[in-house]
Amino acid sequence: MAYQTLIVEIEDYVALIRLNRPDALNALNSQLLGELGDALKAADENEKVRCIVITGSEKAFAAGADIKEMSEKTFVEMFWSDFFGQEQDAITRTRKPVIAAVAGYALGGGCELAMMCDFIICADNAKFGQPEINLGVVAGIGGTQRLTRFVGKSKSMDMHLTGRFMDAAEAERSGLVSRVVPVAKLIPEATAAARKIAEKSSLTAMVVKEAVNRSYETTLREGILFERRIFHALFSTEDQKEGMSAFLEKREPQFRDK
Ligand code: HXC
Repeated sequence: MAYQTLIVEIEDYVALIRLNRPDALNALNSQLLGELGDALKAADENEKVRCIVITGSEKAFAAGADIKEMSEKTFVEMFWSDFFGQEQDAITRTRKPVIAAVAGYALGGGCELAMMCDFIICADNAKFGQPEINLGVVAGIGGTQRLTRFVGKSKSMDMHLTGRFMDAAEAERSGLVSRVVPVAKLIPEATAAARKIAEKSSLTAMVVKEAVNRSYETTLREGILFERRIFHALFSTEDQKEGMSAFLEKREPQFRDK
């Protein structure tokens, strides 16, 4: 499918989705987020995709929601359109693992989009921020909730209240990102991580994602019970038999997602 604001490439079971609005530092407008939801749904349904990477340019992952698109809107318009609510749901409904590969600015909605992914690998030039307060608004697609879960209350309050940016070293130190790499190595490193995931059983990877995400939604006791039950359930799959046999036979497993 042809997109106007995205470039999608599929290779070695990895879908690489590049946000592509260079003139606006990949600011997130309705078209881009709509296309991103469609691209993620298509990747989820495509047997040739086992892991997804979302990235931007070296200068900007995304500099936030598109301020030009939003600036004249009224409360009633925002309310009736449920501005970016559906789009956020479409992105977070993705069942296959999604990695955010962030270089440059990830601000406002850009930071929020990165946090909707399953983990973030960033370049050493990355800058994260929730500067919405400078525009007289608050984060609107999850920032106050997700950043707080990633980095804790004190740093989240600091970021949201001062609007300051966090560099890559601070982002790694505070648990927002899983790894920092030189900017030239960002795409190779992120796609290598994605290929590593793509070597696993896709079925198992999707279950792992569900279980980790469950920890955000439930109590420890319920989460542990959920994990135990799906651990038990995986013993009904061919991939569990294959994975354990391969270990015992000292060979590489051949997973079939069954
Ligand atoms: C629309 C944007 C944009 C944005 C940058 N641009 N960010 N357009 N929405 N969020 C455009 C600029 O207008 C400019 O277009 C071009 O991109 C290059 O930007 P510059 O400002 O000239 O670049 P630079 O000086 O390098 O500064 C980079 C920057 C700055 C620090 C990232 O652009 C900036 O502060 N952007 C806004 C960041 C922000 O406030 N984000 C939060 C948005 S609110 P022209 O045509 O002039 O060349 C949000 C809410 C989410 O995200 C909730 C949604 C429901």
